[in-house]
Order: sequence, then structure tokens, then C-alpha cells
Amino acid sequence: HEKPRWPEPERARRFAGPGVRNVGNVAFVRTIDWVDGAIELIDQTRLPDECVTLRIETVDELIDAIRRLAVRGAPALGVAGALGVALAAATCADPAEAVARLRAARPTAVNLAWGVDRAAAHLPDLAAVLAEALRIRDDDIAACRSMGEYGADLLAELAPTPVRVMTICNTGGLATVERGTALGVVRTLHERGVLAEAIALETRPLLQGARLTTWELARMGAPHRLVVDAAGPYLLAQGYADAVLIGADRIAANGDTANKIGSYALALGARRAGVPFIVVAPESTVDMATPSGDAIAIEDRGAAEVVAVRGVRLAPPGTEAINPAFDVTPHDLITAIVTDRRVIRLDRGETLTSVPHGERRH
Ligand code: MRU
Repeated sequence: HEKPRWPEPERARRFAGPGVRNVGNVAFVRTIDWVDGAIELIDQTRLPDECVTLRIETVDELIDAIRRLAVRGAPALGVAGALGVALAAATCADPAEAVARLRAARPTAVNLAWGVDRAAAHLPDLAAVLAEALRIRDDDIAACRSMGEYGADLLAELAPTPVRVMTICNTGGLATVERGTALGVVRTLHERGVLAEAIALETRPLLQGARLTTWELARMGAPHRLVVDAAGPYLLAQGYADAVLIGADRIAANGDTANKIGSYALALGARRAGVPFIVVAPESTVDMATPSGDAIAIEDRGAAEVVAVRGVRLAPPGTEAINPAFDVTPHDLITAIVTDRRVIRLDRGETLTSVPHGERRH
């Protein structure tokens, strides 16, 4: 098993502040953490060109960071929301008002509201709020390790060894605190020596796959290639991958899953090609209060991200656009849901209510 080296030490030295922990010779960096009374997080808008941390000292700064995706990915948003309540408790005259705005900063990932609510239940006691937020942070680290084990074992059952996987968006350490959900499974497969290749979809419009997932895969030394989104279903039909692994922003009670736009097309392609389609997410992403995908609010991020790429205009001035950031994959297209506590085989008729929570694995 290869030791996780993420990012490389020389890269990590460019980080400002104590967000870098040196363990032996290896620098481990958390995507988000609480450092000396404020939030420190990797500014994901600047990757892969620069890896720098942002220090966030107010709720308004945090809301801005969430809206422009400096911090993103459902589990990382859960931790951000919880730590943000600590900022509200420490700095706001009216924490309740700030907390409500924070909770609504992005609508689709249930983890944001979940993290905010768990921490806000301890208001106005700052120490208790912070303790709860740090529990959520630590819990996410453990949950990702457990998903890696459950997911890699499931793939050993469902796919050949070594295995070729396809993934979309970024579901790695950058979308969580340390290891990731779907990409955390890829990491575990690589550590077990059974990853043949990961194919990453670029993930228009904000290119989380092209910018972030490739960056993480390169740092873990995993074999990978990048493809444009539209190539995904075709490459599945052509036999390029043995399984599709995706994350989730919200899993409804019937198993319908909201995730980055393009996931639904991959699920259709996977079904047609007979390739397992696996959702990997912590239990905190399961929202039993939402009965089905129809009830999930899908964020529309406006035209600017579609008509231009990283500041370079593509479309004629004045072009209108539709920009859903997520889509919903119906449960009948999903082979299995892997969480930190169980594997739900939807292909065998199992459901979120029929499969009990089991133990975490590390
Ligand atoms: O818009 P983003 O980058 O926050 O979207 C993220 C995703 O869609 C991820 O797949 C999801 O949050 C799971 S992250 C482990």
C-alpha cells in the first residue's frame, strides 16, 4: 500500500499558515480546518495553477467563498457550514440571521444545511458550537476512510481486477476534509494496487474534473486520463471503463440522487453498456425528508459560467443560457449506494429503509 502523499511536500510548503501538518516527511493538508479562531480552506478557484489557503474570519466571507466555489463538494460544505456557525457565534450581533443566510448559500447539497443545523443547535454557546463543528470535521475524515473500504470491496465483487473506473466532477479530498467519497474509493483501489485507470470527465462549466480531479489523481500517482463530458457515455459503450463511481449532493429517500450535471447522462450510458453505476456518499448526504428526486432543488448558476470559460468569452455577447449545476439520476439507474456504514444494492431491490446501518470500517 502506497502512503497517501497529498499534495507533494514541495507543493505543500507553498501553503501559508498552520493548515499544513507534517507527519514524518509527508505534508498532509486538509481542505478545510479551524485554525487559531478562523476557518482556513484551500482556494479551489485557483487550482491547479496555485495551491493557496484562504483565511476566513466572518460569515460574509464564508458565504462568498461558498458561492464562488472556493470551497465546494457536499461533505466539505457540511464542515464549512458547521464551522461558519462558530464564526457567527463569535462575531455576529445576531447569529441567527447570519446562520440563516449561510444555510441558504447553496441549495442542492443537503450537507450544508445539515452541518449548519447540527452546529446551530448549540447556539449561543460558542465552545459547544465549535466542539460540534470539529466533531463533524473528524467524522468526515473517518467516514471517507470507511467509504473507501466498502466501495473498493464492492468493486472487487462487481468488476474485474485490476479495474478501470470513470468519474465526474471532483469527489476527492478537495470535496471533503481529507480523502474523498467516490474519488476516495479510487484512492483506496490505488492503494490496494488494483486500479488500472481512472477516466475523469472534465465537468463543464466550472471544470472540477479537469482542474481538481486530475490534480488529485496526479498527486496520488494514479493512472488517469481526462475526457470531455460528452465522451463519457460513448466511451462506456466502447468498453473503456468497468464501473462508474460518482458522489452525491443529496440522496432522496427512494434513492434518487442529485449530483453534478452530467451524472444522469453517464447513468444512462452505463445502463445501456451494462456497466455498474455506483453512488458513494456519507450518511449525512442521505435526506430521508425528501421523498424523491422531484423534490430536490437544483441550483441554476446563471449564464455567465456557460457563455465564458475562466473569463474567456465563447458565445456572442447577449447569448442566454440555462445552467443547472446538478441533475437527478433516478434510483432505477443506480446499481448501488455506498455510504460509510452500508452498501445498498438497488439492483437487488434493496432500499435505504430495508438495509440497516452497519459499522464504520477503517
Ligand atoms: O458544484 P460542486 O463542485 O460543489 O459539485 C460537487 C459535486 O457535484 C460532487 O459530486 C458532490 O458534492 C459530492 S462531493 C464528495
